[in-house]
Amino acid sequence: MNKNTASRMAELTINGKTHLMPILEGTEGCKAIDISNLLRDTGCITLDSGFKNTGSCASSITYLDGDKGIFRYRGYDIEDLAENCVFIEVAYLLLHGKLPNAEELDNFKMLLEGFALVHEDMIHFFDHFPSNASPMSILSVMVNTLCNFYIEMGDDPLTNIDITAARLISKIRTIAAFSYKKSLGQPLVYPRQDLCYCGNFLNMMFHKPVRNYEVRPELVSTLNKLLILHADHEQNCSTSTVRLVGSAGVNLYASISAAISALWGPLHGGANEAVIDMLEGIYADDSNFEKYIRKAKDRSDPFKLSGFGHRVYKTFDPRGKIIKKACDDILLSLNVSDPLLDIARELEEIVLKDDYFIERHLYPNVDFYSGIIYRAIGIPANMFTVMFAMGRLPGWISQWKEMREDPGTKIGRPRQLYIGEPRREFVPLAERP
Ligand code: SDX
Repeated sequence: MNKNTASRMAELTINGKTHLMPILEGTEGCKAIDISNLLRDTGCITLDSGFKNTGSCASSITYLDGDKGIFRYRGYDIEDLAENCVFIEVAYLLLHGKLPNAEELDNFKMLLEGFALVHEDMIHFFDHFPSNASPMSILSVMVNTLCNFYIEMGDDPLTNIDITAARLISKIRTIAAFSYKKSLGQPLVYPRQDLCYCGNFLNMMFHKPVRNYEVRPELVSTLNKLLILHADHEQNCSTSTVRLVGSAGVNLYASISAAISALWGPLHGGANEAVIDMLEGIYADDSNFEKYIRKAKDRSDPFKLSGFGHRVYKTFDPRGKIIKKACDDILLSLNVSDPLLDIARELEEIVLKDDYFIERHLYPNVDFYSGIIYRAIGIPANMFTVMFAMGRLPGWISQWKEMREDPGTKIGRPRQLYIGEPRREFVPLAERP
């Protein structure tokens, strides 16, 4: 059902001529001006650096209200989902638009269990990455390579989309854990069918032939919560990438590989690792908060406080609040004290009282505390963004599927404002000064 209904018209007057454009109404009072015919009617395009004011699509998957700190998947508040679901339940919700009943969840679990292994020929790829290779680089390469081993995409990629989705969601754990084991020079630990989604990942990461790994329920519960909080987030940079790349007709594996690369950036998913680097820098600098706050305010200094600020949230990121509590809970439960948590708390307190940050609505975002939890679980900093990708994968797939199922989808091809040279006569090489 097309939920975009034009309620009123916007008027734009250029050179004395008035043009009417429909104002579309979505759910929760969302509004958008439909400028589909702007260039044809006015000869003008719009220009909007970073797309701060520009919508790329209509979507039914995630709703954000950045002023009120509201965040919902398919209409359900993130607080309820994070508190009451496991990750694969939310993955099902994003993919299918409804929470699974018991039978549907069991069937999805079995599908994921069946896809946990990667083709043995792919395992040799790990032998050829340098031991210090970035896990995000490995993940992007290996996910792209899956299309060579699992050809079910075929002509109509939507035919087997549920199989491909389950295959990707299951295998991303194995690829991530195998890359970690390889970086340590430890033997690979294969997935087990008696472990749940998150328990399997933890066991593949930390089990050793010489010492069994105890899959602790509190770690499984915390990891489920973290992955749920990262599962989708509207049209962020990496999700926009998956839609743009997918709009060219490329298969899902390659589209997801592109999204992994976009997420890698320190302004996006790479921020969780950058936060730990920043906190470690402050800690090593005798907690010289003033120096880092000054750098963050200095417009000539490219330094930004990682883990603060957001394009959409102009109040607390609801995920940040949930993660901060989960951080306190898991460190208490593990009886772990992390000096970086004290640094993070003190930095947050300073920032929230500072006019520079208050005026710019800069609050802790999803990345500010998540790395401290990953550290407590034993996950190395260079894998924090891999964890983000593991959580975001169902959202990327759901957005790609929604884009491909939309009959109105066209290949993404933005225009530009040309500001280069006017026409010039060609000068042969011999005549150039
Ligand atoms: C994610 O889009 C999503 O939904 C992303 C995400 C998801 O789930 O997919 O939520 C995940 O990417 C979270 C963001 C993680 N990145 C960081 O923590 C990096 C640090 N944050 C900033 O780089 C920044 O806040 C962004 C990139 C997150 C948002 O940048 P915007 O929206 O383009 O805002 P801006 O750069 O225009 O900033 C407005 C003002 C500027 O100052 P003035 O020019 O007005 O004087 O605020 C300042 C900025 O300099 N500012 C900061 C700051 N963030 C913005 N100053 C210091 N430290 C910061 N972190």
